[in-house]
Amino acid sequence: MSDSVTPQKLRSRAWFDNPSNPDMTALYLERYMNFGLSLEELQSGKPIIGIAQTGSDLSPCNRHHLVLADRIREGIREAGGIALEFPVHPIQETGKRPTAGLDRNLAYIGLVEVLYGYPLDGVVLTIGCDKTTPACLMAAATVNIPAIALSVGPMLNGWYKGERTGSGTIVWKARELLAAGEIDYQGFIKLVASSAPSTGYCNTMGTATTMNSLAEALGMQLPYSAAIPAPHRDRQETAYLTGKRIVDMVHEDLKPSDILTKDAFVNAIRVNSAIGGSTNAPIHLNALARHIGVDLQVEEWQEFGEEVPLLVNLMPAGEYLGEDYHHAGGVPAVVKQLMNQGLIHENAMTVNGKTIGENCAKAVIEDEKVIKPYDQPLKERAGFRVLSGNLFDSAVMKVSVISPEFRERYLNNPADPQAFVGRAIVFDGPEDYHHRIDDGSLNIDEHCILFMRGAGPIGYPGAAEVVNMRCPTYLIKRGIHSLACIGDGRQSGTSGSPSILNASPEAAAGGNLALLVTGDKVRVDLNTNTVNVLISDEELAQRRAKLEAEGGYKYPASQTPWQEMQRRTVGQMGSGACLEDAIQFQQIAQT
Ligand code: FES
Ligand code: MG
Repeated sequence: MSDSVTPQKLRSRAWFDNPSNPDMTALYLERYMNFGLSLEELQSGKPIIGIAQTGSDLSPCNRHHLVLADRIREGIREAGGIALEFPVHPIQETGKRPTAGLDRNLAYIGLVEVLYGYPLDGVVLTIGCDKTTPACLMAAATVNIPAIALSVGPMLNGWYKGERTGSGTIVWKARELLAAGEIDYQGFIKLVASSAPSTGYCNTMGTATTMNSLAEALGMQLPYSAAIPAPHRDRQETAYLTGKRIVDMVHEDLKPSDILTKDAFVNAIRVNSAIGGSTNAPIHLNALARHIGVDLQVEEWQEFGEEVPLLVNLMPAGEYLGEDYHHAGGVPAVVKQLMNQGLIHENAMTVNGKTIGENCAKAVIEDEKVIKPYDQPLKERAGFRVLSGNLFDSAVMKVSVISPEFRERYLNNPADPQAFVGRAIVFDGPEDYHHRIDDGSLNIDEHCILFMRGAGPIGYPGAAEVVNMRCPTYLIKRGIHSLACIGDGRQSGTSGSPSILNASPEAAAGGNLALLVTGDKVRVDLNTNTVNVLISDEELAQRRAKLEAEGGYKYPASQTPWQEMQRRTVGQMGSGACLEDAIQFQQIAQT
């Protein structure tokens, strides 16, 4: 424990030990004593540490944090702190209607108020399910008090008839089996449920494993801690060590702004490529960067990440699951492979007070089937491309997941091998898609491009994970399993589809996707990273004038006050889908 910071400097002293304002001090103190904390404890000068609890019955992915919190408390106590646990607005990726994306910013803004407005000197952020991680990190970045994240850990591997079944990825497979009549409704549910055998978050390389890995790569949680499965004993031990460590971080005054530097974000972008991370990562990391005041543009995901190969063999890109990732060495083993290539800024600071270079210097791959050495990757150039054109300013695509079959069907023009032209089939939101996808009159064939619009942060509040659309049943029966998909929504991290998604600006924010008509020809060119509808600027302008005369692009009305409030201030996915009012406030407050 360092004594460079005296107890008087702790922000909690302003509540609990402020002789110049005895009235308020007494009022603050008495109520925190009413469940048994003593006056002596509260005035001891010990750091008060919040445990931001994201687990609950409504958030099954993070529910194990209710158990882990006991070990966090023991660590905090042992290191000389006092723990105060409090709830964070629940975000369950699979349970929240209309989208969990809507609640990332709600949990964020709620947690900011808690961290700012209560007597907390530091905080343990209990992260896990997709949006809980960015929501917590964004809030800690905004308030900038010492903060350490603790992952809840992935579920154990799922199994069905001797084969691994992974969260989310099994749904894509089960949907096809159901559509092809090979399983029935009950069989479908059983197959999907087999992928969730224990407490914890999605065991595939979906958004949860991605964001938890990146929280470690950013330096915001203890080394090795992201990948440990939820039920393992090491997970409990890590909870204890995390609780111990945050107390020292308070004494050292080690804050998010010391850790979340540009170098840390570049490291995280590279790790994201190497793990085969979710296309949701750019949205969340760009948002986090803005809240900590680091300039990070969506184009930098391509600049720093595209060349990095895929090293982690987890579904959906590969074969294995979360337990295997942990046994193979987890995040440090991946970081070390990148360090050997000079791809990691080794001096980036982390929560344990050491640099990422120091933390990962001795990391080894324990199982080369699961984590590949850099020179024997699963795929070359596994990062994202950032595309633009006359339909949107930015959208991301994971080019490395283009299948040979897909390449054969779309990218088969020898004169122009990286480009294709497809006939657009346009859907307005997921309900429209479900309603019409099997409608034979659309005449969808294997060269069509499916478009999903009205699915962005404003159009489908929070942005729906719906861009990776299943083919019409009549094509699946003919053996066509995927079509090119483009949209202004998101895509589940558990889908391996090479969709072009997160298109910004979305149709509902005035983007040209709103002008697209079924039957238009659209050209995708991977040489130039462009997507263009093949109509003239004049025609586009005419369509724009007509749409505006009709009152603009229509989307469903808000169902709750928060949906309406968020719609009025949310930005586009290219810049993190942040609450722009919050960003503006932070910029003014800093000047
Ligand atoms: Fe919660 Fe995947 S649904 S982690
Ligand atoms: Mg998701």
